[in-house]
Amino acid sequence: MRELLTSPQVAPSILSADSSKLGSQVDEVMAAGARVIHIDVMDGHFVPPITLGPLVAGSIAEQVHAGGGAIDVHLMIEQPERHIEAFAAAGADSITFHEEATPHANRTLAAIRELGCLAGIALNPGTPAAALVELHDLADIALCMTVNPGWGGQSFIEGSPEKVSRLRPLVGGATIEVDGGIDASTAGAVAAAGASLFVAGSAVFGADDPAAAFAEVSAAVAGS
Ligand code: DX5
Ligand code: ZN
Repeated sequence: MRELLTSPQVAPSILSADSSKLGSQVDEVMAAGARVIHIDVMDGHFVPPITLGPLVAGSIAEQVHAGGGAIDVHLMIEQPERHIEAFAAAGADSITFHEEATPHANRTLAAIRELGCLAGIALNPGTPAAALVELHDLADIALCMTVNPGWGGQSFIEGSPEKVSRLRPLVGGATIEVDGGIDASTAGAVAAAGASLFVAGSAVFGADDPAAAFAEVSAAVAGS
């Protein structure tokens, strides 16, 4: 996973995939070059919907790893520290939780690294970039939400590229990940601002041809 974070990557989010054929949807995007598969975990408390858990992460982990890929888990749950072990055991390569979801961000980042995963911390659109000032040494990934968490298919929040620019000098060597409303028309601006991991759900799996859509978003990133 660490190597995958050194070059720009588009990470398809399986939240928008057809769950009745999850394995073949993952195969399709990996055949098109995807190497980071993003899993959105929602608990019905931190955000209203309930989505995926360790069982689903574990069900595709072997397939993703066999193809040279990595599982990128995004926890939108309260008390994330209670669940990191289960996701690590399910095969997660990186685990990202929300700064707003726990008073124990420092301890949780360290615990994720101790489990052998890359540690990530996410910020809601309303949380200032400066919230990461005390944490950057412990974080491998800083995830800047570019929509409010909870649902796929929302519009990219304008002003997100500026927030990524503010985050860039605050997070040391951490990879900046962006999530929400990322498509071929929005990826370029956040890439130019310093993001290098681009989650795309509906832009990839909502398209008639997910492989072509993945290539299109990747080209927008590369051309920025
Ligand atoms: C939103 C999730 C996203 C979601 C993105 O709460 O964290 O990862 O899948 O979906 P799109 O790309 O459709 O905005
Ligand atoms: Zn996500």
